[in-house]
Amino acid sequence: MLIRDARIVTGDGSPAYRGSLRVEGERIAELGPSLTPQPGESVLEAGGRVLLPGFVDAHTHALFAGDRLDELELRRQGKSYLEILAAGGGILSTVRAVRQSSERELADRLRERLYWMLEQGTTSMEIKSGYGLSTRDELKMLRAIQRAAEGFPGTVVATALLGHAIDPAVPGFVEQVVSETLPAVHAEFPGLCVDAFCEQNAFSLADCRRLFERARELGHPLRLHADQFTSLGGLELARELGARSVDHLEASSREALQALAHSETYGVLLPVTGFHTDGRYADARCFQDAGGKLVLASNCNPGSAPSSSMPFVIALALRKLGLTVLEAIRACTQSAARLLGFSDRGLLAPGMRADLLLLQHRDERLLGYELGGNPVQSVIVAGATVFHRRELGEALAARDSTG
Ligand code: NIG
Repeated sequence: MLIRDARIVTGDGSPAYRGSLRVEGERIAELGPSLTPQPGESVLEAGGRVLLPGFVDAHTHALFAGDRLDELELRRQGKSYLEILAAGGGILSTVRAVRQSSERELADRLRERLYWMLEQGTTSMEIKSGYGLSTRDELKMLRAIQRAAEGFPGTVVATALLGHAIDPAVPGFVEQVVSETLPAVHAEFPGLCVDAFCEQNAFSLADCRRLFERARELGHPLRLHADQFTSLGGLELARELGARSVDHLEASSREALQALAHSETYGVLLPVTGFHTDGRYADARCFQDAGGKLVLASNCNPGSAPSSSMPFVIALALRKLGLTVLEAIRACTQSAARLLGFSDRGLLAPGMRADLLLLQHRDERLLGYELGGNPVQSVIVAGATVFHRRELGEALAARDSTG
């Protein structure tokens, strides 16, 4: 297939240019200012529309049951996210709903969300467990993620979020996670990233260290939710243990962000969370300017970020994080792919997997300008078109031609 006359945004932060891209099988074969169709090749006329790599959403909790609509009302009345959690709501209310759901029910709900994400341009996504808080229910979540991914055209990466909260009904909960849940997850899902939430009323710094030291001995890469509301030392722990990423960072000091920027650990920023909860955002400019490995993600979850829209994440990154549109695109394509361990995607270059988005827009800045729409015209995964939105004109012409 030849995608002709597109505005090409490669995903590595370099400026856009007008050109064409050839796909052969599952891969990008070549890019150039003026490629001509080969005999028998299908041609997609882009007409100057923006072509970019499929989004890689590297931090989501998109597998959940129930909803948290009541919390919106509580927060409107002035209750904070942490107060709701301390009162047994928040994450713990989603835990109750997940425990009541079967693996199949969870997989069915997740599959619906995966297709919705795909239509919004996300072709690779990370999905965390973390609403089980017991060995049985964490395994159920991880199996549901595996089941939902079967036959789904995009790529799903599971993360074992074993330290998301403390089950108040289980004395010695952290001990149970380390000595029972972690080994069970290791036996069935070796090599998955292990994650935790270092926060008041969730995992303490000491709890995180305990879980992470054992997980690392078992060969699991680490990721950590840290400095979301309170700076407890999680960022420093993640650096010390060589974690893949520290996620959130809304409460991090400039010094901590600069130190993180000088390490190999990615910083994952989640601006929908600040938008939905309390208007606080991480200092992205400080981290980026210090040379940090910056990733943007949706954090899709029922409590702090009820959205899976990467275009919305980019729009917030421009307004609230002070990033340029090209920096924001790189943070959710090339950089996010590398965080998830993929070297074959997130970039438009020969040999890369052809996970591509064609937008309706002819200027990539519209991706950060427009709010609340879905700018995606076509989604291509491994060289195959999996979603195509017919324009109104196209649809009317098709209707007229059939009488
Ligand atoms: O990254 N903060 C911890 N975990 C999620 C929220 C999960 C929830 O509230 O259900 C987050 O914001």
